[in-house]
Amino acid sequence: MKLGVCYYPEHWPQARWPIDAALMHQLGLSLVRIGDFAWGLVEPREGEFSWDWLDQVIQVLADQDLQIILCTPTASPPPWLCRAYPDILPVDVQGRRRRHGGRRHYCPNSPTYQQHTVRIVSALGSRYGTHPAVVGWQIDNEFGCHDTSRCYCDNCAIAFRSWLKAKYVSIDALNEAWGTVFWSQIYNEWSEIDPPNLTIAEPNPSQLLDYYRFSSDSILNYQQLQMSTLQECTSEHQIFTTNFMNRFTDLNYFDLAGPLDLVTMSSYPTGHAETRSALYLSSSIQPVFAYDVGDPYITGLGHTLMRGFKNQRPFWVMEQQCGHVNWSKHNTGIRPGSVRLWTWLAVAAGAEAVLYFRWRAGLYAQEQLHSGLLNHDASPAVGYADLESIKGERKLLNEISTASSEAQIALLLDFDALWALRFQPHNHEIDYLRLLFVYYRALQRVGISVDVVSKDADLSAYKLLIIPTAYLATEQLAHSLMDFIQAGGTVLLGPRSGFKKINNLVTDQSLPGVFRDLVGISVSNWHSLPPNVSYGISSNIKGLAGSATIWAEALTPLVPDLNVSDPDLKILAEYTSGPFNSRAALTEHKIGAGKAFYLGWYPDDEHAESLASYLASQVGIFPLAGIPNGLIILQRGSYLILLNFTEKSLTACVQGQYILVGPRDVEVITTNEL
Ligand code: GAL
Ligand code: ZN
Repeated sequence: MKLGVCYYPEHWPQARWPIDAALMHQLGLSLVRIGDFAWGLVEPREGEFSWDWLDQVIQVLADQDLQIILCTPTASPPPWLCRAYPDILPVDVQGRRRRHGGRRHYCPNSPTYQQHTVRIVSALGSRYGTHPAVVGWQIDNEFGCHDTSRCYCDNCAIAFRSWLKAKYVSIDALNEAWGTVFWSQIYNEWSEIDPPNLTIAEPNPSQLLDYYRFSSDSILNYQQLQMSTLQECTSEHQIFTTNFMNRFTDLNYFDLAGPLDLVTMSSYPTGHAETRSALYLSSSIQPVFAYDVGDPYITGLGHTLMRGFKNQRPFWVMEQQCGHVNWSKHNTGIRPGSVRLWTWLAVAAGAEAVLYFRWRAGLYAQEQLHSGLLNHDASPAVGYADLESIKGERKLLNEISTASSEAQIALLLDFDALWALRFQPHNHEIDYLRLLFVYYRALQRVGISVDVVSKDADLSAYKLLIIPTAYLATEQLAHSLMDFIQAGGTVLLGPRSGFKKINNLVTDQSLPGVFRDLVGISVSNWHSLPPNVSYGISSNIKGLAGSATIWAEALTPLVPDLNVSDPDLKILAEYTSGPFNSRAALTEHKIGAGKAFYLGWYPDDEHAESLASYLASQVGIFPLAGIPNGLIILQRGSYLILLNFTEKSLTACVQGQYILVGPRDVEVITTNEL
């Protein structure tokens, strides 16, 4: 397990570099990320390269045994490039050509930008591709940040048409796949198709879904362009990554992770915490966490996603918050202990390295108010002191980072379904990520490990698969679920599953479409519920009570003969009021050695908690401990890591043994001690 830091030597006088490098080393850091946004310094004018400063920085860092992650600087093309080649600038959804002066101002489909990308990337690769101190490359920086996942320029229109041609081959096939007969959208020529922006009414949702897929592929191709350029001039010891963002869903991160050696992420717990209302369903759940630690479930979902994007492989936190940020609503001041807690949380969740953002608070420009490990005046800041305090814990952190973590429950994330539901939620309260989060949090609340997987993942390691909604369904998914269930697996399918086909057209089968045989029921009616309208729920499952809000579906058993009931089908919850009164709301269907459950309503946090615990117990997985609110327990091999994110001491009861964890503190025990 390594610790490191993001460093901007170009912001400081040269005389300071050796001092910084020595301090980093002394603090126990061994990785330094540099070079993101440094294009204008490396190439001040077209074709004129200035390497001396970067050669020296790398040498100074290497002299302190620091290993370097070098970034390609393409997230911020310099002004001379934008002025000479304005077609590299992106066009936003409003049709406005954006300007330089911030960052991420480029279009990945601009042939001009691609040429300049290859130029700068190969120049960097040729110079440092065999440098022993450079251990890896970060490609670009936070693809899609600042709403840049999709561009609507003429180059994108051209690229979109070729992408569509490759996908549909004939224009008739496209017309059918998009249902263009509606509102007279039928295309005769590929050239008639535009990106889906600036339409008067909403654009065609099938076209929109393809535009999201195309845009994600455009970034993937752009990442690939950089990787293949680097691969020509770098040595085997250098790894490739890019940094993903927590809860960011505009790009298909499963696809982007595929060719990379490693997934890395940016993690800003107090910034993300301000979006908790986007993830929690019940406003009744009051945060119990200390004010300056963020919400560890939100941070933890990010870690879990990062593992999941690369088949549960360890990830790195490439940017770990180490003091206040500058981009959230309140930019909360951070007290001693928080950075240590975040570091522990990341390592316990599978991080192999944690790099803090940034070394020293900057004096210049947009991020002047962001913190670093050092303050503006180079005095140690709060995170610095935390890293000093971690020194004695490094051995244990190391051991934990190499211990295996094996979850037996997986949550399925499907970007196609997520995007399709975003375009047509039907009820604006419905959000795919929120639905994923309620189950994630429900399982973490009781200390049960959970992974996030893609629809193509190998499921054989799991006993239970929770699918928040398979809104966009394929026969292939139905078949792989059937195989998983017949072999003894258990699946929960959430509401609205099977509603759409892969092209985002509605199925003409009765719902849940391709999953009907799997779940043994049909959805005979569905209602979106306005605020203040709810349908009562009753169930024998502990805690599964109250009412359905937002969305409800009436379920009818699929039996060949109405007089004979299906012995393999059980009704586990019913509606107790409203138009679906006494109809089934949750069912269980036995198939082969396994079971398929169908949930007909949009569960709130409490429903998800009782349902997740019930399903886990059905497959023989039980909470390890009685966990008080605010305490997080993660398991790695034989280690149990207990993290208290509150201001009070908390006691967990782990297999009959009481373990006290101080406020904002960490305790580690091994299962052998129990
Ligand atoms: C990240 C970004 C960094 C820096 C940081 C500030 O999103 O990659 O360059 O801006 O946020 O918190
Ligand atoms: Zn474009």
